[in-house]
Amino acid sequence: MTEPLLGRNIAVAIGGGIAAYKACDLVRELQRAGADVRVAMTKGACEFVTPLTLQALSGHPVFTDTFDAAQEHHYGHLELAKWADLFILAPATADLLARVKAGLGNDAVTTALLAFRGPVLLAPAMNTAMWDHAETQTNLAALLAQPRYRVVGPVAGLLADGDVGMGRLAELKDLVAAASSLAVSGPLAGRRVLVTAGPTREFLDPVRFLSNPSTGKMGLAMAEVARALGAAVTVVLGPVEGPTPRGLELVRVGTAEELLAAVMPRVEAADVFVAAAAVSDWKAQQVSPVKTKKGDGPETITLVRTPDVLATASAKVHANPKRPLLVGFAAETHDVGTYAKEKLAKKRLDLIVANDVSQRGAGFGADTNQVLVFDGSGEVLRADGSKRDVAKAIWGLITSRLA
Ligand code: CTP
Repeated sequence: MTEPLLGRNIAVAIGGGIAAYKACDLVRELQRAGADVRVAMTKGACEFVTPLTLQALSGHPVFTDTFDAAQEHHYGHLELAKWADLFILAPATADLLARVKAGLGNDAVTTALLAFRGPVLLAPAMNTAMWDHAETQTNLAALLAQPRYRVVGPVAGLLADGDVGMGRLAELKDLVAAASSLAVSGPLAGRRVLVTAGPTREFLDPVRFLSNPSTGKMGLAMAEVARALGAAVTVVLGPVEGPTPRGLELVRVGTAEELLAAVMPRVEAADVFVAAAAVSDWKAQQVSPVKTKKGDGPETITLVRTPDVLATASAKVHANPKRPLLVGFAAETHDVGTYAKEKLAKKRLDLIVANDVSQRGAGFGADTNQVLVFDGSGEVLRADGSKRDVAKAIWGLITSRLA
């Protein structure tokens, strides 16, 4: 769960130096750590190793030419920049460092980097004389003055040209370790987040159940944004369709009781518990083990309450001095603020995110949301937009509370 590279999208950008051959092993090591790796190469790099080798290793086409219409269309610089969570320049040659520092975009690697805003790991490798050159050092220092650039290596040793000195590419394990620490940087680095998402299902018999239209989108957006901010995230997810996010611990559940069983052993270790699941409030008192046959008349089903997962978790952790921040959700169709504040007080929450599910563009199944967030003192945030943007706004508030 806490593997920092699991599910991360890493672009390995290869410069034209003899250490380019080591990028092949780097791709493999990053994959072994759970990352999905795509490769961009400078023209110089292609002289040292073939794009075909890197394509076979990474399992993806390799981006080498900004003027190749097919490459640009499918996996060119903008696509790569959008896709990647992290860029690794290995080897970062003196020439490549100079071009990146100057903001040039004159090949596949530099155009992709120009379009990228995330963290960049520089792994320089070159001859000692080139490394020691004042321009190389000035370029590197200028890049490192920006917080999103980090450097690993070079290290001293025997160089390809027979010289002994500074300039070897860092060891693979150090490259992977540096990538891991960059991947988990962010305001939630080192924090554990537990999220419940999606509906639950309470079966009446093997073919019928009580549930609700929740698609889990808001809870999953909360989980994905927490992960992007550096948290180790566990999602307890009810039955939903569609792709599930990678790079986090996913626990699939069906019923409210299963949700409770997944949450309770995890909640005390969490720094933040976000309860976004739309839990069925009732279940059938008697679940038939076989399909119930219909009669002509009306049927009566006796319903009993399911456990309130959030309230139970809140009661368990409330006395702990290091308890998680508790964030609930409230879906309402009227008097949103009043009901939300009641729930906040009753379940002893720190924050509650309320939305009016009768509004267009809010609530179940929609890709957008409009929310009001309350704490014990009243309204503290309003946010609307895509569920991801709303999640970002809510996490902005949560991270300020954690600090
Ligand atoms: N919740 C939960 N377990 C339940 C019911 C709700 O964990 N059995 C959580 C939800 O994930 C959400 C919050 O509690 O964070 C919603 O509170 P609740 O009062 O249950 O809301 P509603 O189900 O909408 O309540 P009501 O039907 O009374 O409006």
